[in-house]
Amino acid sequence: MCGIMGYIGHREATNVILDGLAKHEYRGYDSAGIAVVKDNEILEVRTIGRVSVLAAKVAAAGLTGEAGIGHTRWATHGGVSETNAHPHISSDKRVVLVHNGIIENAREIRKDLELRGIKFHTETDTESAVQYLGYVYNGDPKEAIVKLTKRIRGAFALVIMFYDRPGEIWTARKGSPLVVGHANGEGFCASDPTALLEYTRVVWFMDDDEIARITRERCEFFDFAGVPHNKEPMHLDWDAAMTSRGEYPHFMLKEIHEQPDVVAHTLLGRIAGGGVDLSRELSWTPEEAKKWRKIHFVACGTSHYATVAAAYIMENLGKFDIRTEVASEYRYRNMTIDSETLAVFVSQSGETADTLHAARLAKSRGAKCLVITNVRGSTIDREVGESIITPAGPEIGVAATKTFTAQITALTLLGMYLAKLRGELPEDSERRLISALMDIPGKLSLLLAKEKEIEELARDFADARGFFFIGRGIAYPPALEGALKLKEISYLHAEAYPAGEMKHGPIALLDKELPVVALVPKNSLWEKTVSNIEESMARRSPIIALATEGDNEIKQYTDHVIFTPATEPELYPFVAVIPLQLFAYYIARQRGCDIDMPRNLAKSVTVE
Ligand code: M6R
Repeated sequence: MCGIMGYIGHREATNVILDGLAKHEYRGYDSAGIAVVKDNEILEVRTIGRVSVLAAKVAAAGLTGEAGIGHTRWATHGGVSETNAHPHISSDKRVVLVHNGIIENAREIRKDLELRGIKFHTETDTESAVQYLGYVYNGDPKEAIVKLTKRIRGAFALVIMFYDRPGEIWTARKGSPLVVGHANGEGFCASDPTALLEYTRVVWFMDDDEIARITRERCEFFDFAGVPHNKEPMHLDWDAAMTSRGEYPHFMLKEIHEQPDVVAHTLLGRIAGGGVDLSRELSWTPEEAKKWRKIHFVACGTSHYATVAAAYIMENLGKFDIRTEVASEYRYRNMTIDSETLAVFVSQSGETADTLHAARLAKSRGAKCLVITNVRGSTIDREVGESIITPAGPEIGVAATKTFTAQITALTLLGMYLAKLRGELPEDSERRLISALMDIPGKLSLLLAKEKEIEELARDFADARGFFFIGRGIAYPPALEGALKLKEISYLHAEAYPAGEMKHGPIALLDKELPVVALVPKNSLWEKTVSNIEESMARRSPIIALATEGDNEIKQYTDHVIFTPATEPELYPFVAVIPLQLFAYYIARQRGCDIDMPRNLAKSVTVE
């Protein structure tokens, strides 16, 4: 979605803001803008396109200041145009703001203000907020913002400056993420904490219904009635270097390569004496674990596919009654959610609106809720209160990669821990799996060494019309994720099916221009999957097989084979996903796609 950056301090504000906006670009990037307040005047520059275009325009305009606000837009209301780009200024030129979210009653406010003679200039919902502020502002910013929060409905992170308050940045949040930071005479705010890492690690994640005032000296917080309250800062444990691409051409490739370390870090501190131990994070008793008869996994996109993999893994570990639900559907179904439900919400960003709303629903119905997220302090982490943090570090590429492996690592540990608490995990199974998990980072490194081979394979298939991904049992979840990766970044149609389901319809689509990527690990379902490969071959589909090292028979069916290291059967998704990520990456690269920022997508989806 949109990205926001605000700065006040001794540096050139436009430089800090442009740098912060560039770090937010992955969230949304059809237009951008920046405003500063100087000598009782609001000055701004806006443009269609990327932050680099904005930077050139800012330089050409000679825009400078000590405090300012900026925005990268991902259009929701109103087309992509310079006029609709943020920041927006009130007609009386006294207030400027940027906004992330949706103001639901914008039309009604606009109509009302137009009747009072206020002229609107854009098609955006945001303009209703700035015009309203201009209308009610009488020299007291807090009072005006309190009035605004009572007037607007919807989701918003607003960052506001007033023409006569050059030393103050104001923010208000409801539903859309915003983080505030401070360090030695400098104040900041941003949509994403990674934009602040270079300047400060001392941050406050804003809560819903909260207003902040940022000055060089301090950050102060108020509720929507304007009443001040104390708020403890958090210390960010990420490092600024983690947000750089280093020598890699794309963040996605860098993040794919980080996966051996990510798995190792996720295991760290969660294994004791050869067994799983999550007691540092979860104070669960065996009685509680036995009480949660139903397990609901709720997530979106890649995080959802991580939960599908987890369900297959966990069903082999204990007697679990598991449902994996897409968050946007979970809320609207009439499922039994009660105190016997353990609802696990998985979200890389911790800000996905669908997942957050689903968590609120489960909490209100009395379910025990747990979050697995990559961002400590994110909204879902704070709201649910019990979390397992995946230590994958910031993921900048829009296509999730390393966070998928971090999630399946955490989920596997969670499944084992629950089964152990329930007394259902035999000690030898626990040792076998822990030892296999500890071998995973080494196996992932072996897979990464096949990068060239996969690049060549991708070159052969970059002109395909589309792809099917098939797999049975534990090979099905990574097929889902492989197809998602490919469609997201290469814009090719890619669909995953349980291999046995192809004959029930999708097989009608197969022909020589539609390759099938078959995930065919050497397990008890190998023969059945091979039958499905043969069915596809009979329709002249080229086959790319992901087979287990040492499986020489597979060569009878296709010359296009990527071999994956053998592992314990349950852990197959770990070794399957890296070749599929690399395959998607190189197909997209071959096709000249914008890999880190694919069209129409945003990293963090904070609207429903
Ligand atoms: O931050 P989340 O894990 O909640 O995000 C969920 C999805 O939006 C996300 O996984 C999306 O599907 C990615 N683009 C996948 O690569």
